[in-house]
Amino acid sequence: MSEGVQTSPAFTPRVFSGIQPSGDLHLGNYLGALKRFADAQNKGVQSIYCMVDQHAITVWQDPEKLRQATRELAAGFIASGVDPKRSILFNQSQVAEHAQLAWIFNCVARMGWMKRMTQFKDKAGKNAENASLGLFGYPALMAADILIYHATHVPVGEDQKQHIELTRDIAAKFNHDYGVDFFPMTEPVIEGAATRVMSLRDGSKKMSKSDPSDASRINMTDDADTIAGKIRKAKTDAEALPSEAEGLKERPEARNLVNIYAALADMTVAEVLAENGGQQFSAFKPKLSDLAVAKLAPISTEMARLMTQPDEIDAILRHGAAQAREIAAPILARTYDIVGMVR
Ligand code: AMP
Ligand code: TRP
Repeated sequence: MSEGVQTSPAFTPRVFSGIQPSGDLHLGNYLGALKRFADAQNKGVQSIYCMVDQHAITVWQDPEKLRQATRELAAGFIASGVDPKRSILFNQSQVAEHAQLAWIFNCVARMGWMKRMTQFKDKAGKNAENASLGLFGYPALMAADILIYHATHVPVGEDQKQHIELTRDIAAKFNHDYGVDFFPMTEPVIEGAATRVMSLRDGSKKMSKSDPSDASRINMTDDADTIAGKIRKAKTDAEALPSEAEGLKERPEARNLVNIYAALADMTVAEVLAENGGQQFSAFKPKLSDLAVAKLAPISTEMARLMTQPDEIDAILRHGAAQAREIAAPILARTYDIVGMVR
């Protein structure tokens, strides 16, 4: 959480974030999200982390694969250091209050706001008429995920900034329309060297699970040889590394590898360049792959071990959902009172 973040004193600091169980986790998810979730928890802030299975089905998901992906994502959270004894870890569909508040937010948010969302435009593609209604309303459910806990801080990658701004717009309109100061103005927390990890094949594209080229990303389940091979083949330029960040400005591929190194090593970009400036990529890449393997191998081993105990994962998620409901239920009840629902 950034220093000096202003939140209304009425709201206790509380972190919430979510990830869709819709495919393999990659280095962008780890550095942009999971690693930072564990860091927030370790700073002692109450942290709530959610596998957003209801968001996943805004596009088609095979039921058996969805179940598997939810458990695998839970294993990814835990293996990355999110401790279910210290943080609340659960899947969205087990806490009905998210969808209940989302309905109210569907009635607060405006069509025009939703139409501006770049993630909707990207995912709907050319045939928006054929997109699900859920995909269009996705950000209202996301706002409900966050605000049903009165969460004050949301660690996410750069690509989610627009959705958090919309969450604030929904909170502000609700508060204004009903004349209350009920929902907090949630702050996005987008910090560190790796808030936007780029493709290893093209420094202008985000590393993403939907990229058809597997060489473009490092999957959290890749073995050491695969990781080393992908980094060796990563696109770079012919120049040596600069000794100051300024020198990376026009070099997106070089900047990406330095950012990844910095985030994995918990160093600043300036520190990485002070140590490695002047080196050729033939020397820097092996160092980067050793570091990536050292950090990711224990995580993928632990994920594989956890996946042999799906019943335990399910029990963890059920327990997390019960804890989440204890916070969510009274906030929904107060929302219903504000809106004028008889209960
Ligand atoms: P997704 O897999 O798109 O549901 O994203 C889950 C989380 O990972 C969100 O907080 C994203 O912002 C983050 N994330 C996804 N891709 C990247 C990337 N290439 N760089 C940094 N963060 C990312
Ligand atoms: N939209 C996020 C993504 O695609 C996932 C998400 C859903 C989320 N609800 C959230 C992230 C609430 C943060 C907070 O990555």
